[in-house]
Amino acid sequence: MIDVANMSNKTMIREQYKNTDHLKLRKSLHEKYSVNRTGFQRWMFDQYPFRAGRKILELGSGRGELWNNYFEIDTFQNLKMDIILSDFSDGMIEHLHRNFSDRGISVRKIDITDIPFGENAFDLIIANSMLYHVKDIDLALSEVRRVLKKDGLFFCSTFGTNGMMRYLYRALDELGIPYDHESNISFTLQNGMQLLEKQFNRVERRDYEDALEITDVEDYLEYIYSMASMQGLDRGKYDILLKYFNSRKINGCLHVPKEYGMFVAGW
Ligand SMILES: C[S@@+](CC[C@H](N)C(=O)[O-])C[C@H]1O[C@@H](n2cnc3c(N)ncnc32)[C@H](O)[C@@H]1O
Repeated sequence: MIDVANMSNKTMIREQYKNTDHLKLRKSLHEKYSVNRTGFQRWMFDQYPFRAGRKILELGSGRGELWNNYFEIDTFQNLKMDIILSDFSDGMIEHLHRNFSDRGISVRKIDITDIPFGENAFDLIIANSMLYHVKDIDLALSEVRRVLKKDGLFFCSTFGTNGMMRYLYRALDELGIPYDHESNISFTLQNGMQLLEKQFNRVERRDYEDALEITDVEDYLEYIYSMASMQGLDRGKYDILLKYFNSRKINGCLHVPKEYGMFVAGW
């Protein structure tokens, strides 16, 4: 039985992100098969109001991929912003140190539910694709609010339940492969607004239009088996899933819907 409730089990999340392999594998599926060629990271990066001297904190940075955009655009480096990348996993912190510490960006080990800074410290706080892993979401968001300046902005991206997840669940249902429908995924595009409004006065949702057109279904299956919520999925079902998804191809492509976006919140 797949325990979707475990999406926000801290020990399991640390295990999942103890090194960068799973994350890299999942990113490569998006890079290879996404219809929207802007790319989600680049789209998000273009939303941030960067200005000279801004103090920026990113929580749950993972491999820090967002910041590859930063080094591609010379003008950003002239802004002399004070940027801190962080994560609660040692594996990610090692990776971030290796890739960013000597490039003018700071790296700190931080758990979003216990942010080691005083009030009113940052102009911009970013938490991408990570809040759904956090069990005590109210505590996490109150910590973000505490360290955000009164005129600062909090940007957080997540997925929606009508995209890739619903598509996969429908397939598992049709094949009679059991999994836990009772999801307590703590932060999605559907419930994010309500959760943020408990802490912030201004909240706006922005959507990123996209889908996957997958030609090699084995890539999709590796992605599925790497997901934190699918760790209970029986490897023995691999061939059944392969046959099923191959039979769903139209003109050589498996069309998988995506629902991704972000919220922008302020005091
Ligand atoms: C799906 S990855 C997203 C990485 C990156 N933000 C991105 O968009 O590519 C989620 C990251 O959040 C981190 N994470 C999970 N729970 C956390 C917590 N409570 N505090 C800080 N980081 C956390 C994980 O270690 C992992 O690196």
